Amino acid sequence: MAPSKAAFAFAALLLAASGLALAQQPCVTPYQSAARNSELTFVAQAMQITGLASTFNNTALKATIFLPKNEAFTALASSMGLDLNQVLTSNTPFTPYLGQILEYHVVPSQVLHAADFTQGEVLNTVLNQTLTVGLSPLTITPTGGKAATVTFTDFIACDAIEHVLDTVLVPQSVSCHPPLQSCFLPSSR
Ligand SMILES: *[C@@H]1O[C@H](CO)[C@@H](O)[C@H](O)[C@H]1NC(C)=O
Ligand SMILES: *[C@@H]1O[C@H](CO)[C@@H](O)[C@H](O)[C@H]1NC(C)=O
Repeated sequence: MAPSKAAFAFAALLLAASGLALAQQPCVTPYQSAARNSELTFVAQAMQITGLASTFNNTALKATIFLPKNEAFTALASSMGLDLNQVLTSNTPFTPYLGQILEYHVVPSQVLHAADFTQGEVLNTVLNQTLTVGLSPLTITPTGGKAATVTFTDFIACDAIEHVLDTVLVPQSVSCHPPLQSCFLPSSR
């Protein structure tokens, strides 16, 4: 007990000292925390090309945000028979859908830590379409879609909290199935 108590006291001292320094610096915004993580650069790019970067780069954004990792975007592109560049380029037929997909990853006003989620909990999103929570392991399931597993939890991003997903959450308003790609082909719209 004694060594861990000492370690705790030392950690508390460091935290107090760094708190003084941190107080002078702005916090890391949700956009910045994605852009600075090498596994989350595609979602940061998606925020930019959909014009949502400024919304996510806000120190006052109070929300729970799910961030699909880069491999999830690669898998989404291939599931649609598209190249990743076609998905992550602005002003394509897919761009408005990408904006809806991002809005489906944000639960407004609620800051939910991993420990706060409950089995079967229904979360409403900025897109006004719901997600369902599963526990052990923590999963997020889009309505009528494939569950995403939460692979990292509790990134603090100013007033928001972020969790990393292994799969992109595709809302029903975007996914026409089968096949998914039929929604995105100009000839089918
Ligand atoms: C994000 O906001 C910070 C200030 O909080 C600013 O320095 C930075 O340029 C912004 N980045 C983008 C991509 O808007
Ligand atoms: C959200 O969706 C529900 C139906 O699912 C609808 O009644 C409500 O008006 C919608 N809210 C907004 C802000 O669009």
